[in-house]
Amino acid sequence: MSCKLERFGNLFDLQGRVAVVTGAAQGNGAAIANALADAGATVVAADLAFARPDATVELNDEVIDRVAMNVTDEGNVKNVFSGVIERYGHMDILVNNAGTIYKAPVEALDMDKFRAVIDVNLNGVVICTKYAAAYMKAQKWGRIVNISSSQAYLRMETYSAYAASKTAVSHLTRIWGNELAPYNVLVNALCPSFVMTPMMVGSIERIQQEKQFTWEEAYDYFAQAVPLKRILDTVEIGNWAAVLCSDLARATTGNNFAITCGQVQL
Ligand SMILES: NC(=O)c1ccc[n+]([C@@H]2O[C@H](COP(=O)([O-])OP(=O)(O)OC[C@H]3O[C@@H](n4cnc5c(N)ncnc54)[C@H](O)[C@@H]3O)[C@@H](O)[C@H]2O)c1
Repeated sequence: MSCKLERFGNLFDLQGRVAVVTGAAQGNGAAIANALADAGATVVAADLAFARPDATVELNDEVIDRVAMNVTDEGNVKNVFSGVIERYGHMDILVNNAGTIYKAPVEALDMDKFRAVIDVNLNGVVICTKYAAAYMKAQKWGRIVNISSSQAYLRMETYSAYAASKTAVSHLTRIWGNELAPYNVLVNALCPSFVMTPMMVGSIERIQQEKQFTWEEAYDYFAQAVPLKRILDTVEIGNWAAVLCSDLARATTGNNFAITCGQVQL
């Protein structure tokens, strides 16, 4: 039987598109930036970490632009995005990936840490979308991918700040998907389960300490919690983000996609 891969043609081709990925110095963001660049997009990786000379950078493509940007700082985001327009003439893709986590029992919540999670994970997404949507609406083409989480759909103890922020992002995805549809600006979200990133390493190390586990036992603690019994690789998240920006996904907007090894079904 002959294989007809050519029927997919340039379905995944992002050449000519300009993408901004937030929180792209490491983890999911770096993998997303790498995947979009591999699909042909011009990619601007925006991360708070680029303000530090010693930042670990997992971008594997020298052609990816790097810019220091704090998603919670409206003036900073506005300037960075207008710089992208000045340099490239358009901004077609925004991946709202920057995120942080803080877990505590409700009675022990440190409100400064709670607010910090809401500020980055929720307000940061609103600020970046606000400025990107203005450009995308005017050009009548845009793709916005929000990185939410399976935690938006779970009820895991101590995850209140993180889950609240992600639940809000998942619902904003529905609202903005509807609101921006007349302008051909599609808004979707990826909701991953556990992914092996520096954030995940932090979670594994915390469980190691709390439960006196070996690294393997702590890894399994998370892996065994999902039906497919594994922790995702960042490349998988990058690939899904690229698909959502491609022509393959042009019939979907306002949707949350569970990339969760069966942990949640939406
Ligand atoms: N790792 C997981 O298991 C997992 C699962 C589901 C969803 N997610 C989501 O994926 C996204 C990336 O997570 P990760 O695991 O790669 O995390 P990570 O901590 O490894 O990387 C996060 C990146 O975001 C950047 N960042 C943080 N605050 C910022 C700010 N204010 N402005 C700009 N950049 C900022 C950091 O510098 C860092 O480079 C997050 O939104 C996270 O909630 C992660």
